[in-house]
Amino acid sequence: MNSEEKKEKMKEIRDEVVNLKKSPLYHYRTEHNYYPVIGQGSHDANIMFIGEAPGENEAKTGVPFCGASGKFLDELLDHINISREKVYITNVLKDRPPGNRDPLANEIGMYAPFLDRQIEIIGPKVIATLGRFAMNYIMEKFGLKDQITKITEMHGKVFDVDTPTHSFKIVPLYHPAVAIYNANNKDELKKDFEVLKSLV
Ligand code: URA
Repeated sequence: MNSEEKKEKMKEIRDEVVNLKKSPLYHYRTEHNYYPVIGQGSHDANIMFIGEAPGENEAKTGVPFCGASGKFLDELLDHINISREKVYITNVLKDRPPGNRDPLANEIGMYAPFLDRQIEIIGPKVIATLGRFAMNYIMEKFGLKDQITKITEMHGKVFDVDTPTHSFKIVPLYHPAVAIYNANNKDELKKDFEVLKSLV
């Protein structure tokens, strides 16, 4: 796919999400004048980061990981000398759940097909999941359900995936939010980012 085709396909996703009236989160979005958060970064990224769902800052701006978790994500990217523009950052859910509650199964079902299309378009070498919701979704989607254990055991491990069209790696990571107040998690995330760097 050339870059014009990628851009066009991403635009189709954006338009569909903007008009996703059947989503259980659509009214919450419009009542609060929030934006959907589609994703940000390079359509040719080697690394694709997948978080859980937009928080309040993200819903107010339409930009993924632009609040406190995002600041830490930027620090982690700095640590491995990779700029935000070089990677692609998105979430499983494209709309903010009320009060930042956990995503519900029907919401994941509603938004995941957009994420699936984004993965197809970008074709990253590495999918780095941030937190357990993204980890569970991605591991299951690519046939690795039986290898799912606790995120405390899985973070920083590398899983190989070969589909007929695309070979890549999945690296589950802690969500940056859990590391903000926990120095141990912070150090572990830094080490796990070094693993990411070694893969690209
Ligand atoms: N947390 C997420 O999972 N995603 C964001 O975009 C922001 C915070």
